[in-house]
Amino acid sequence: MTWLITGGAGYIGAHVARAMTEAGERVAVLDDLSSGVSGRLPESVPLVRGSVLDRELLDRTLTGLGVTGVVHLAAKKQVGESVEKPLLYYRENVHGLTVLLEAVVAAGVRSFVFSSSAAVYGMPDVDLVTERTPCLPINPYGETKLAGEWLVRATGAAHGIATACLRYFNVAGAARPELADTGVFNIIPMMFDRVTRGERPLIFGDDYATPDGTCVRDYIHIEDLATAHLAAARRLAERPGAGDLTLNVGTGFGVSVREMADLIGEITGRPELTPETAPRRPGDPARVVASNELIAKELGWSARHGLRDMVASAWEGWCLHHPEARRA
Ligand SMILES: NC(=O)c1ccc[n+]([C@@H]2O[C@H](COP(=O)([O-])OP(=O)(O)OC[C@H]3O[C@@H](n4cnc5c(N)ncnc54)[C@H](O)[C@@H]3O)[C@@H](O)[C@H]2O)c1
Repeated sequence: MTWLITGGAGYIGAHVARAMTEAGERVAVLDDLSSGVSGRLPESVPLVRGSVLDRELLDRTLTGLGVTGVVHLAAKKQVGESVEKPLLYYRENVHGLTVLLEAVVAAGVRSFVFSSSAAVYGMPDVDLVTERTPCLPINPYGETKLAGEWLVRATGAAHGIATACLRYFNVAGAARPELADTGVFNIIPMMFDRVTRGERPLIFGDDYATPDGTCVRDYIHIEDLATAHLAAARRLAERPGAGDLTLNVGTGFGVSVREMADLIGEITGRPELTPETAPRRPGDPARVVASNELIAKELGWSARHGLRDMVASAWEGWCLHHPEARRA
């Protein structure tokens, strides 16, 4: 097999590329470097610079490299931006996927792994979110991921391509500091940012119907997420051309925002910066925790890394890019 990883220079893609390479898979990356960084990739991994919207480049790349499977991570991923720029999100995430799938069909690629998200579920009102929980996304980002799943499954069924849609929950951590996420779009970097400026981390709402009143989420270590891709890719490769899998990738374990703030205070060495409560943000569900039974059953995969490791490795990555964060 030769796998093409789109978006492979991104935060998650670089970890996936590394995990697959280390496991002996042949891997190449296609990335337009709009948010990716080429230096994240091992030297042995060829990088094709360009967009999934460029059909001619895709045709050349898929045939030229003899690609037999695709792991598609390239996308825009900021919920707030998707509300302001829905057309950009539909173009990149849905039209880009359509162009890629057309090229995949034309090149006879037989396996396709798609980066989906827990955002497809919207505001689930259940203790554990299973793959059968209704998908009711509440922002354009989540809509593009759900539409992407439909496209992937329908194309797989019509053209004999084995597909897997992986619905990631809250991804955090880094295998190495230089691979860390550099964006400040979710709770962990947002809290690091506040702590770095000597400010108290913010908790958005403490009157939710949860044990401590703050929102509960399921955090998955990036290295575990990467091995889930490897497991999915290998499963598809065993049965090229047949079947589809739609799987949550989470731990099944809920962590409250307050618990996260306390752990961040400890790991950053600033426990005196106790969290401050701000008003609720619209669109924040009280609890989103994955049922991970199906992925365990289908792929024999489960998460190995714990929360402390996740936050500590994310902090090491943060400090690499924000040296001022470490107090003397
Ligand atoms: N980070 C998360 O918590 C999370 C959660 C759920 C799902 N996801 C999904 O995982 C995937 C990767 O996310 P990430 O966190 O690594 O983001 P990222 O921004 O670090 O990576 C995205 C990569 O795709 C590239 N890219 C974007 N548009 C492209 C295009 N048109 N053609 C080619 N390359 C393009 C970027 O340069 C970047 O390298 C995305 O599909 C995202 O929606 C992420």
